[in-house]
Amino acid sequence: MAKLTLADLKKIRDEKNKEMTRRDTDKDVQIIVGMGTCGIAAGAKETFSAFVDELDKSNISDVMVKQTGCMGFCSVEPTVRVTAPQMPDTIYNNVSAEIARRIVKEHIIGKKLVSEYVFDNPSRDIIAQ
Ligand code: FES
Repeated sequence: MAKLTLADLKKIRDEKNKEMTRRDTDKDVQIIVGMGTCGIAAGAKETFSAFVDELDKSNISDVMVKQTGCMGFCSVEPTVRVTAPQMPDTIYNNVSAEIARRIVKEHIIGKKLVSEYVFDNPSRDIIAQ
């Protein structure tokens, strides 16, 4: 294995700092990816990476991207919860990497729901009553 140079170490530090900043919970816009076993089996790791990559490409740094465990929706994984000002708190289902990129462009930037992937979660409505 080759020795790490000072430049390599600085690059690793910068990447890790960026990663940690992405997890700050004080941000108004939050993307939470369900990464329980079935989420990962359905491709949630690729979904998570696509969110981070698309946000980077769009130079958006004020969005938290975080993973969570089982969200309880096995049949529609990967699932993602998106919270943003002036938008309803939304759970998306079957979020592939491609759909993750659309959510960044349409929901986060364009303030428009990606309607065909919005997950109807009736139990949330029942709990709220
Ligand atoms: S085991 Fe599938 S959502 Fe939890």
